Amino acid sequence: TLNQQYEEKVRPCIDLIDSLRSLGVEKDLALPAIAVIGDQSSGKSSVLEALSGVALPRGSGIVTRCPLELKMKRTTEGETWQGTITYTAKKQPEDIEDPSYVEHLIEQAQNDMAGHGAGISEDLISLSIASPDVPDLTLIDLPGIARVAVKGQPQDIGEKIKKMIQKFIKKQETISLVVVPSNVDIATTEALKMAQEVDPDGERTLGILTKPDLVDKGTEATVVKTVHNELIPLKKGYMIVKCRGQQEILDRVSLSEAMEREKTFFEEHAYFSILHDEGQATIPKLAEKLTLELVNHIQRSLPQLEEQIEKKLNNTQSRLTKCGAGPPQDPSDKVYFFIDKVTAFTQDAISLAAGDELQCEA
Ligand code: GDP
Ligand code: NA
Ligand code: MG
Repeated sequence: TLNQQYEEKVRPCIDLIDSLRSLGVEKDLALPAIAVIGDQSSGKSSVLEALSGVALPRGSGIVTRCPLELKMKRTTEGETWQGTITYTAKKQPEDIEDPSYVEHLIEQAQNDMAGHGAGISEDLISLSIASPDVPDLTLIDLPGIARVAVKGQPQDIGEKIKKMIQKFIKKQETISLVVVPSNVDIATTEALKMAQEVDPDGERTLGILTKPDLVDKGTEATVVKTVHNELIPLKKGYMIVKCRGQQEILDRVSLSEAMEREKTFFEEHAYFSILHDEGQATIPKLAEKLTLELVNHIQRSLPQLEEQIEKKLNNTQSRLTKCGAGPPQDPSDKVYFFIDKVTAFTQDAISLAAGDELQCEA
């Protein structure tokens, strides 16, 4: 079963990455992540909130103004939801107990970092969520590609956003999720072009079609062909999902209700039900696919990770050797230990002053 597969294949990989993180390795090692890119209002934040089960700021115009790192960790059944938000302008990470508060906190973070209005910032907002209902994934939501600057934005905002996106997706260990509405000609999509520039063979690019309910009549077959990977082939292929439309948000349709509606929509759709039968439609299928992709990615990066850890270990060991014996355990010895170090330092200083080479005391 899927759960069994999860426990056997996915869990060990996630645990490994987790323990590397808790060792503080993350800062120095490139761990795989999934970046979500696409034109403004293509549905990036909607996909992310559906995957995480947490409402995020979304809507028309530029809403996502800073990169948002969403670290999700699946906990065992019965555990309570737990969130934490961190960003550079904030001195201390803030714990969140109520998921419905997340949206407000992210807006506040964006205002702190990118100012009120339509400005953008490269500074990362990091949101960690632990819950039995999330997949084990780290996703990065990025500002959408804007074509024209609006009031209060610098003229070169489009270029700035593109540079920011490039910085994330050019990393070899990043999987790019390219979000494209079903009612847009995918061949003209800027985001797909950008992904193809840094990943010409589409090895680490996955296409996501959104808004299937808004597809233009008569173009359904083209959408099916796209998802079947027949038009612009990507090694990782395509998925199609339906999220909450603006009216459903206004009507306060919950995320779980939206997921039910999504299932029914695909099951009953004259053209798209085949995609559902083939496992290429709906948010839960996307979550499943992404988790497996991430695990494959981690497995492929393991030799490289090992090399980096070895290097770090060697560096640390040689620095440790230079420090000589560690501080004594017995408090009464500590003062002598300290005097020794100071004496050694003074001698170094004296010989340095005398023009001698500094002798590193082993
Ligand atoms: P982003 O700018 O790419 O992050 O896009 P958002 O997630 O903010 O979505 C832009 C708008 O599209 C919002 O009003 C969403 O409600 C709407 N939207 C997203 N997905 C769908 C969908 O599958 N169907 C419909 N009808 N609307 C959607
Ligand atoms: Na938007
Ligand atoms: Mg957004």
